[in-house]
Amino acid sequence: MDRLRQQVAESEHPRELLIDVLLELQAHCGYVNDEAMAAACGLFHMTPLEIDELATFYDFIYREPVGRHVIHVCDSAICWMNGYASVLDHLTARLGVRFGETTPDGLFTLLPACCIGYCDRSPAMMVNRKVYGSLTPEKIDRILEKCRNGRTPDELDEWER
Ligand code: FES
Repeated sequence: MDRLRQQVAESEHPRELLIDVLLELQAHCGYVNDEAMAAACGLFHMTPLEIDELATFYDFIYREPVGRHVIHVCDSAICWMNGYASVLDHLTARLGVRFGETTPDGLFTLLPACCIGYCDRSPAMMVNRKVYGSLTPEKIDRILEKCRNGRTPDELDEWER
């Protein structure tokens, strides 16, 4: 908090730091819970409503608890044309959850996302904010398996991205 307070105090336009600060608070708390919200309100001299209006605009700021691994499936146009439905069907079947839900073991949360910039490798998804493209059922299974084994999907070989 001291470091964040200093960053905000030194900034010419403190509100430009709001999203970065929310992401830091989220990394610390797991999501932007009431405690994190109160901290942000104090830092920026804003009301919870003002911060919520901004925070809910961003797909990657969570106002409710999420699982250890957050999967965002791109549902924008190019992915739609290139297999989005089969990716979502596969994830839904494997995890037993739908969009907005977390698996009972707390490992995975499944959420949609707008285009994540991997159109040339669609269909694509993000796991913990890393992007994976050219998804197939086999590749999705490998990613989920690595997550289940307590490893990060980062450890996928680079060619698998
Ligand atoms: S439309 Fe899915 S990554 Fe761009």
